[in-house]
Amino acid sequence: MKILFLGDVVAKTGRIAVVNRLADLKRRYEADFTVINGENAAHGKGITSAIYDELIAAGADVVTLGNHAFSKSAITDRLKQCPYLIRPANMEPENVGRSWVIRECQGKRIAVVNILGGVFMDQALGESYPVMDRILQEIDADIILVDLHAEATGEKELFWFRFRDRVSAVIGTHTHVQTADERVVNGCAYISDVGMCGSFDSVLGRDSDELIARSLGEPTRYTPAETPAVICGVVIEIDDSTNRAVGITRIQERPETEA
Ligand SMILES: [Fe+2]
Repeated sequence: MKILFLGDVVAKTGRIAVVNRLADLKRRYEADFTVINGENAAHGKGITSAIYDELIAAGADVVTLGNHAFSKSAITDRLKQCPYLIRPANMEPENVGRSWVIRECQGKRIAVVNILGGVFMDQALGESYPVMDRILQEIDADIILVDLHAEATGEKELFWFRFRDRVSAVIGTHTHVQTADERVVNGCAYISDVGMCGSFDSVLGRDSDELIARSLGEPTRYTPAETPAVICGVVIEIDDSTNRAVGITRIQERPETEA
C-alpha cells in the first residue's frame, strides 16, 4: 500500500494547486490513501469546513491540522460535520473535535494521529510524549501514521525514536521547508518536515514584500503570496504483510516558472 502525505496547504494558491492536481498526483504516485495537512489552508491560517469539504472531495482521506487549527474560530462549531478532520491532541481547547481517526483502506485500519511539538510552540499543552503514549493505548489499528506538527528537528527526531517501534510513520509538518532526511528504520518512515503546498516564490507562503515592510517596522496585514505553487509531500510505502513502512519518497514539484 502507498500513502500520499501532502504538507501544509497554504492559502488559496496552495488550495487551488492541491485541488486541481490531487487526482493526477494520486495516479502518478499510485496512492491508495491520502493525508493532507490543511492548517494554513484558509488565507494562511486555519481552515473552514468548506475548505475541508473541498479537500475531501478532491481525494483526501484525512485532513490534519496544527497550531493554527482554530484560527478561523467558526471551525470549532463545525468539527462534528468534518469526520476526517483531526486537530492536535495537546492543544487548547482540549475537548473539541478528535485528535486521531481510523479509516479503512484495502481491508486495513489506518489510524492518523495529530500531535503538536512543544519547542517554540506557544499553543502546545505540555510535551507530546505523554499524550502520544495515551493515544496509543486507545488506538486499535493495523497502520498508525503521525502528523507531528512541530518546529524543531531535534524534537521531531526524538519523537520518532521514542515511538518508531509502535507506529509506521512519523511525518513532520509546520515549518513549510522540506527537509532531505527521509528514511525508514525498523519499519517506521520518518521525515523532519514534508514542506508546503503553496506559493513557491514567498516566505513560507506569505507575501515577501509585505514581510520586508514588516521587518522595517511598517504595519502589515497577513497577506499570503499568490505566486505559482510548489507541491511538497512524501509517499510512504507500507508492506501489506507486516503493516510496516518499507520506503519513503519525497515529492517536491516546483512551478515551471522558477528562474
Ligand atoms: Fe503550523
